[in-house]
This record gives sequence, structure tokens and C-alpha cells, in this order.
Amino acid sequence: MTRVVNDEGLNLLFREARTHTVWRDQPVEDSLLQQVYELARMGPTSANMCPLRVVFVKTREAKEKLKPCLDAGNVDKTMKAPVTAILAMDIHFYEKLPQLFPHVDARAWFKDLPENVLEYIALRNSSLQGAYFMLAARALGLDCGPMSGFNNAMVDAAFFAGTTIKSNFLCNLGHGDASKLHPRSPRLSFDEACRVV
Ligand SMILES: Cc1cc2nc3c(=O)[nH]c(=O)nc-3n(C[C@H](O)[C@H](O)[C@H](O)COP(=O)(O)O)c2cc1C
Repeated sequence: MTRVVNDEGLNLLFREARTHTVWRDQPVEDSLLQQVYELARMGPTSANMCPLRVVFVKTREAKEKLKPCLDAGNVDKTMKAPVTAILAMDIHFYEKLPQLFPHVDARAWFKDLPENVLEYIALRNSSLQGAYFMLAARALGLDCGPMSGFNNAMVDAAFFAGTTIKSNFLCNLGHGDASKLHPRSPRLSFDEACRVV
């Protein structure tokens, strides 16, 4: 039997899911954040490397630490969001491969690669995981507001100093105020974006 997501699920995940910037005053429990991660982690990555690392910025103190790193246009929406996830990546993801891909010595495939190549690989795979993360959040009833308008070096210094972890993008999480949304921007049609050869 072919199993598919029903129309209601497709609406929730895709057709009616929007990028939110205005948040209702409704808290997000830590247990829900954990559920989001536990779904998102199941999405595929190269050699199951799972480079994504997440910091959930929730307290006032942590939000204040994030504030100076943000582009001006992203400050208000981020400070008012119940949670801001820093979706980051461990450039030395290969150190976890004995745990994550135990049937071969996958660590040896990556450990001597130059840092810029490791970063490229981590960026691809953590971006995929970031997309799984947003779909997981939407599946669990949260709204998302992804952002790349921030200073990565400042976020890395503030939250990941002395580690091999670097920020990829930010994602505000909460319950959005749909009445404040602009009309949805168009997407490319199948014929504009795809071809079957
Ligand atoms: C990786 C990424 C970075 C983004 N950066 C910003 C940003 O810095 N500030 C912002 O207001 N919106 C940002 N956006 C939001 C996009 O403009 C928005 O998702 C897109 O226009 C689609 O909107 P919709 O989901 O409501 O259709 C970003 C989205 C993504 C996925």
C-alpha cells in the first residue's frame, strides 16, 4: 500500500505554511522544541553525518546576546519571537561518524580534507537538516521565520567560541499572527524550474 500525507497535512506543511514575522503571545514549551529536533534528525544527510547543531535562544539574556548580531530589519521580529533557533553546523562533523556511520571508517574519508571543503560539505548537509527542521516545526503546529540577515562571525563568537561549530541560519519559532502576513509571493511553475529528460 502506498502511504501518502493527506490534503490537510500538505496544507499545513506547504500550501498554507508561511514565513512569519509577527508573533502571538503564546509560549513554546521546551518539550515541543525537543520533539521538533527528534523529527528533524531523521532526515537524510551524506554518510549520515548529521552536522546540524541547534541553540534555542529563549531567555531574555540569550536574546540580548543575539540582538547586536542581527541586521536592523530582523531585530524586532527576533526579539519578539518566543524562540529563535540558531541552526549551526559542526565543521568537524567527521568526529561523530564512528557513532553515526559505524559499519565503515567514514571518519577517514573526511578528516584530512581542507577546512573550506569540510565547511562546504557541512553547509550543504546542515542546510538540508535546517529544511527538515522547519518542516518538522510546521508539522508540530509551530510557525517559522527563517533569516540569514545577521553577522555570522558575531553569532559564532557569542555562541560557539572555542568550538568547531559555525552558524548557518536563524529561525524564529512560535505561533505567528496570520493577520499580519503580506500576500504570498509567486513561485516558479514546474515548466519554469524543472525539466524531465
Ligand atoms: C535561508 C533564508 C533566509 C532568509 N532571510 C531572511 C531575513 O534575513 N529577513 C527576513 O525578513 N526574511 C528572511 N527570509 C524569509 C524569506 O523572504 C521568505 O521565507 C520567502 O519570501 C517566502 O515567504 P513565504 O514562506 O511567506 O511564502 C529568509 C528565508 C530563508 C529560507
